[in-house]
Amino acid sequence: MGLIAEPRASWRFGVLFSRSGVTASIETTQLRATILAAEFINTAGGIQGRPIELIDYDPASDPKRFRSLAEQLLGEDRVRLIFGCYMSSTRKAVLPVVESHRGMLFYPTLYEGFEYSANCIYTGSAPNQNSLPLARYLFSHYGKRVFLIGSNYVYPYESNRIMTDLTLQAGGTVLDEIYVPLHAGPADFVKALREIGRTKPDVIFSTVVGKSTSVFYEAYREAGFDAERMPISSLTTSEAEVAEMTPAAAAGHITAAPFFSVLNTQAAVKFVADFRARFGADAIVTAVAEAAYFQVMLVARAIERTGSDDPELIRSVLAEVEFAAPQGRVRVDPSNNHTYLWPRVAKLDANGRFEIVWDPGMRVRPDPYCIEQRLDSWCETTKSGNANDADASLVL
Ligand code: ACM
Repeated sequence: MGLIAEPRASWRFGVLFSRSGVTASIETTQLRATILAAEFINTAGGIQGRPIELIDYDPASDPKRFRSLAEQLLGEDRVRLIFGCYMSSTRKAVLPVVESHRGMLFYPTLYEGFEYSANCIYTGSAPNQNSLPLARYLFSHYGKRVFLIGSNYVYPYESNRIMTDLTLQAGGTVLDEIYVPLHAGPADFVKALREIGRTKPDVIFSTVVGKSTSVFYEAYREAGFDAERMPISSLTTSEAEVAEMTPAAAAGHITAAPFFSVLNTQAAVKFVADFRARFGADAIVTAVAEAAYFQVMLVARAIERTGSDDPELIRSVLAEVEFAAPQGRVRVDPSNNHTYLWPRVAKLDANGRFEIVWDPGMRVRPDPYCIEQRLDSWCETTKSGNANDADASLVL
């Protein structure tokens, strides 16, 4: 649990990121980013002179624990705002509790889309901001014969469904779709590797999450597959999962995200330096950590305006609040509670470091229901939400 401060003197934020369990390493980056943002705000004098107090628990990557701790935070600890969740199964466990207490969940993780809750602000990528640019990149650089593999829960099912739609729309083929347990070990990947060897796809799309990610990439290399010709692409293989594999197993594979720790802008370099100054020179920084960071900053600006942590009031002003995040300027779209973000694609080099291979330099409007689910209809809009002159369909 976080520090205890005088109840009325502080803004009390609930925090639910796992420090144990299958997604502990990636969620730890989100927890740290949340702490970093709160400390920055407090050092600068707090929000309207009052410091942020984080009430944080370890939900152990377990949806049931997420749900009961959300109940604890909103019911007994009397917080109104919760910052947390990585796996979609945990968000789906928490949301009904947040809705019943009329609280607000700030969710900083890429996910499968096709969801709206008045009690949730989504600051990670929606599919039109990551699946779509990834598909465009893969189809033009590697081919359209795709093999799908994922962990056995809701995000992989739904993300694979979207990738299937995009593949078929582009005239490609989905060769197979295989699920492994959330805690998969090497034996769980044998069948998938055999099928990959037999069907010889152009590219693998992996929605494997957490600890099993490194198991899969290591097994892929040991099976002798060449990542330069037939890479694994993913939205959930970040710096945190790569840190658990050898550089040789990582090399050549592809990830799409709005932020990578190698991003070479002033704001990104400063964020990574601040993060490492606080948590150690080897601290891992990820896209979902960056979202965890900027969502606290957005909320602080909203509370600064409203003078209240009332979730309804915060939601009503969030759209007017922009923040120069490490990835670029971000803001929430009030029509769907998702966030305008900056898609990028990166490839892992021989040292296991991401190298950005496609940066269209566009802020993309969130379209969580993929209404514009066409590979050639990818454009940004202005602050007012209207198409502007700079809009462009992306052409590779
Ligand atoms: C996820 O489950 N949204 C990665």
